[in-house]
Amino acid sequence: MATRQLVTSGAAVLVSAVIVTTGMLMNSPAVQARGDGDDQESRIERGFDIAPVPLNLAGKNRALVGLGSYLVNAVADCNGCHSSDPSTEFAPAGNPYFGQPTTINPSTYLGGGRDFGPFPGPGPFPHIISRNLTPDKSGLPEGGHTFSEFVQIMRSGVDMDHLHPTCTGAANGNCLPPPFDGALLQVMPWPIHHNMTDHDLRAIYEYLSAIPCIEGPPAPSVLHNDCQ
Ligand code: HEC
Repeated sequence: MATRQLVTSGAAVLVSAVIVTTGMLMNSPAVQARGDGDDQESRIERGFDIAPVPLNLAGKNRALVGLGSYLVNAVADCNGCHSSDPSTEFAPAGNPYFGQPTTINPSTYLGGGRDFGPFPGPGPFPHIISRNLTPDKSGLPEGGHTFSEFVQIMRSGVDMDHLHPTCTGAANGNCLPPPFDGALLQVMPWPIHHNMTDHDLRAIYEYLSAIPCIEGPPAPSVLHNDCQ
């Protein structure tokens, strides 16, 4: 009897020791910094680990920048469309599709220019080309858009640059044929992104303000950014 009691309480001590140790481990900065948990802090740290460019954190909210990097670089693949083309999206010897270890090319990172071809098909229709999302000299992302403009774009798909109006007559190479609405961004997955929370959109915006400016082609190209 005495032995059994001893064994039972021994087991209880062991169980509580495990619980206490696990709790301590989960709260320890070492485990959080590894970024492999399922909480916001892990996403933030992972975001910093995977950002392919140096980040300017001056005046920024660090947690938002980290989370934004996680969303842009691990979830929404913004650079998969907003880099210039498949052959320069990755650095030399860093193209995973060539069987090489992945290295994103910082010189095209989120600078736009990927040509999705004539839309909605062959014909005298405009090419849909991804835009430059990097901040200009104002420090605001995607060429100086404010946060409220950014939210409007991501929620409604409005094309504030009016690059391809809806055709009112014959196709002329610049307009989109109805029922496509030329006032809206095409190809860009805003009908999916518009489901994000305000906090996630804020984080993406904060991250896009922290990445380096890419100048792009000369003005008046819509892809041009004044970096200084
Ligand atoms: C499937 C490809 C694709 C992905 C993924 C994608 N985009 Fe786009 N995006 C585009 C294209 C193409 C355009 C321009 C569409 C047009 O001209 O009609 C665009 C336009 C935009 C614009 C409008 C820019 C401006 O100056 O008005 C913003 C903002 C934007 N994208 C942000 C993002 C962000 C942020 C992500 C990731 C969360 C993202 N995009 C992911 C293809 C994509």
